[in-house]
Amino acid sequence: MQLHWKPELPRKGGPLYLSLVRKLEEDIAQGRLAVGTRMPTQRELADELKVAIGTVTKAFTEAERRGLIYGDGRRGTFVGEIPKPRAILASMNRTLPIGIDLSKNHPAHAFDPDLAGALRQIIRSPRIQSFLQYPPASGMPEHLQAGATWLSTVGMRVDPENLHITAGAQHALNVIIATETTPGDIIAAEEYTYPGVKAIADMLGLELVGAPMDADGIIPEELESLCRSRNIRLLYLNPSLQNPTNIIMPTSRREKIVELAERYNFTVVEDEILAPLMAPPPSYISQLVPERAYFVISSSKSVAAGLRLGFVVAPSAKRQKLGETLQASCLSIPPLMAEIFARWMDDGTVAKVIARRREELAASNKLAQEILSDFKVRIHQSGYHLWLELPEGWGSMAFATESQRRGVAVSPAEIFAVGRRAPVNGIRLSVGAVSDRLLLKSGLEILVGILKGNSRQEKVTV
Ligand SMILES: Cc1ncc(COP(=O)(O)O)c(C=O)c1O
Repeated sequence: MQLHWKPELPRKGGPLYLSLVRKLEEDIAQGRLAVGTRMPTQRELADELKVAIGTVTKAFTEAERRGLIYGDGRRGTFVGEIPKPRAILASMNRTLPIGIDLSKNHPAHAFDPDLAGALRQIIRSPRIQSFLQYPPASGMPEHLQAGATWLSTVGMRVDPENLHITAGAQHALNVIIATETTPGDIIAAEEYTYPGVKAIADMLGLELVGAPMDADGIIPEELESLCRSRNIRLLYLNPSLQNPTNIIMPTSRREKIVELAERYNFTVVEDEILAPLMAPPPSYISQLVPERAYFVISSSKSVAAGLRLGFVVAPSAKRQKLGETLQASCLSIPPLMAEIFARWMDDGTVAKVIARRREELAASNKLAQEILSDFKVRIHQSGYHLWLELPEGWGSMAFATESQRRGVAVSPAEIFAVGRRAPVNGIRLSVGAVSDRLLLKSGLEILVGILKGNSRQEKVTV
């Protein structure tokens, strides 16, 4: 089907070709331009809009770079498909062949604890054979105790019997969301969210809607109007050092979310994966409404990414059902991982590795703050990532493509955006994964070079 498309273009405010790209982005996001529709030719569009053909050519080139349209030889140019959430998640886990990777929120491997030492101790344990049996579905009592002790260090007091062990936070979110919903339900999240949740919603056949945010996180009035118009079953939130925007939601906002959860009868899933790296908030949402909120934490960011251990605090009325879903997902978690964690809790390794990660993150974030001082960034000393608002004239996909070309991988806003609204021009820079500060410095300087239009910056190969 050939399209008749005549967008209204502002005659002021930035280059005309970018206005055209933005219109295209908006119309695709809002469903006015369906995937697969054939675009008018560049000449037809230029005539229709009464603009120079060069403007349309530039706009098409930019739109193609952003993945909004694609050319198919002589058949023409077509409206592109927004990437599927599960494909996004998979692509984020690919290893870059060369260059500096600021696209992944992985903990720096260089500061991981001593695994060989822990394994040597476990070998000598008289309990070693017990790790080869099926543990209870929620975890072995001594491992749950270690989890409860760890949670108390982040200000979350919990009885070990009220905990469930999972294979990391992604698994925890999967099990919680599956417990709370049935296919076709509507769930909400921050309008820019952790892509793992988009993938879960996609997998479970749920509709995920984005709640608009400001500098303090979800805007309560916006969430309320969403609740009035849609039947929201569950709200997923990442209130501290939010992925990707790095926002820390103030207590007053958390309290408003609680009020809304009670008024509109939705469940809250509070993902506090980075809580061990920062000072605890005065109260968690799960402490304010324990009967309708789940608390999730995991060892993957603060201890080690391969130690796949999540802890869930569930509302008391939901514990049994959560346990059943957990069993349906994997019967129980192999206890060896939890044993390593419990020993590291006991001998102070967890505390030491977290202190080291905090120190390193503070130094990396300070460096980033200095290098990016001319730009709008949201940086926190404990953040794994920072959020950079691109200056006018840059689209986040175009920027990500260009920085990748120069050897630095970053994550554009599109990866995190919920729904089909045109995303803001922001990028997430993961500073926490790069332990070599010189490498981090050169990566950030290359980005600054791009932002300042400095074409002398060379592509790095490391
Ligand atoms: C906000 C957030 N929640 C959950 C996860 C998944 O954590 P895990 O590795 O423990 O499964 C991530 C991973 O990046 C994350 O950023």
